[in-house]
Amino acid sequence: MPEHPSPAAPKDPARAERTFVMVKPDGMRRGLAGKVLARYEEKGLKVVAARLMLISRDLAEKHYEEHKAKPFFPELVRFITSSPVLVLALEGRNAVQVVRSLNGATKPWEAAPGTIRGDFAIALTPNVVHASDSVPTAQRELALYFRDADYLEYSRTDEEYY
Ligand code: CMP
Repeated sequence: MPEHPSPAAPKDPARAERTFVMVKPDGMRRGLAGKVLARYEEKGLKVVAARLMLISRDLAEKHYEEHKAKPFFPELVRFITSSPVLVLALEGRNAVQVVRSLNGATKPWEAAPGTIRGDFAIALTPNVVHASDSVPTAQRELALYFRDADYLEYSRTDEEYY
């Protein structure tokens, strides 16, 4: 394998796991998107699709359908549609688990220092980021936000270490 694989090099399946991440309205409005993205990039995950968007009520209800019966569902939908979010598809080894570890516990008061929520969040609904909790969930959530044409192939110059 060449030292610097070209974008056309065959993809290593071990590095190809994808997950869905959202910088939530609080993360955007507090100007945290750059810091959050840096954590994923520095860990070695590759951004393969990205979009700044305002989520519709319909999409929010689909995204959070597993929480439909929960008492916090209306507030969750109101919040997530309240201002733009940054949605990302991240790719890399064990991407789902790596992102969950970097994000920290959903409840920010349980999130370890050094994690995104441990460092930047204090409340439960505005907890800066959302990420898929399993590979099947990632596939479902990625399909809600991205089409095949949204994914772009390229190699990172530091990819040999990942
Ligand atoms: P998220 O990872 O986006 O998935 C569901 C979201 O619901 C969660 O992060 C929290 O922001 C929000 N939420 C609000 N209340 C609760 C609750 N009581 N338990 C879990 N999640 C909650």
